[in-house]
Amino acid sequence: METNNLPHHVGIIMDGNGRWAKSKGKPRSYGHRVGSDNVERVVTHAFERGVKVISLYAFSSENWARPKEEVDELMRLLKVYFTKFIKKFTKKGVRLNVMGDISALTPELQKVILDGKQKTEKFTEYVLNIGMNYGGRQEIVMAVNKLIQEGKPITVESISQNLYTFDMGEPDLIIRTGGELRLSNFMLYQGAYSELYFTDVLWPEFSPKEFDLALTDYAGRKRRFGKVQ
Ligand code: IPE
Ligand code: IPE
Ligand code: MG
Repeated sequence: METNNLPHHVGIIMDGNGRWAKSKGKPRSYGHRVGSDNVERVVTHAFERGVKVISLYAFSSENWARPKEEVDELMRLLKVYFTKFIKKFTKKGVRLNVMGDISALTPELQKVILDGKQKTEKFTEYVLNIGMNYGGRQEIVMAVNKLIQEGKPITVESISQNLYTFDMGEPDLIIRTGGELRLSNFMLYQGAYSELYFTDVLWPEFSPKEFDLALTDYAGRKRRFGKVQ
């Protein structure tokens, strides 16, 4: 496949687990389990393709409004998979990072996250950045408040330097699975000039082949950043 004009940083809004499960006559939690399994497959493939930074939307600031059983199951899965990723990615040289307000997560999950960050902090080539209790608006507010507290000027650059992604750049491409045409509070500041790719494929069925389709589409885009070509 076409590999020139490859995105350095790809953001993925992994949507559609619930609808996928429903289509199989199964509970939503089943969709979350199969969707979680799909993360490793797609992320591994993306790194093999040459993508260096992947930002995943796993749990939004707004997802707390779901039924308690669903939130509990998602938190359980996040802990299981984050632990698994630490094992796998420490061997592969991938730095794990989490964006979002982790103070609202259980102490055990916070511990797993800090452990993963610490064990992988020395890696510089690849980054897997996971949005957990993440909201783009909340992130901007956090950055601005930090600047105010420090008495620093608020500029486009200084805000950027105080986001969770301060050291990993902005997504060149944002993929959303599951057919909805919106960002749902994902990387609002960093996504100002991201190329957007929407697919109807539901997250549990989003395969490496589907990922390649997004890369091929991206390769044909003309990014102008406001200039004249
Ligand atoms: C995405 O799938 C996973 C999370 C938001 C945690 P959904 O759970 O939103 O699935 P749909 O959109 O209801 O199908
Ligand atoms: C976005 O999906 C959040 C994640 C994928 C984690 P949602 O399913 O929460 O988004 P809406 O509610 O359809 O906008
Ligand atoms: Mg959804």
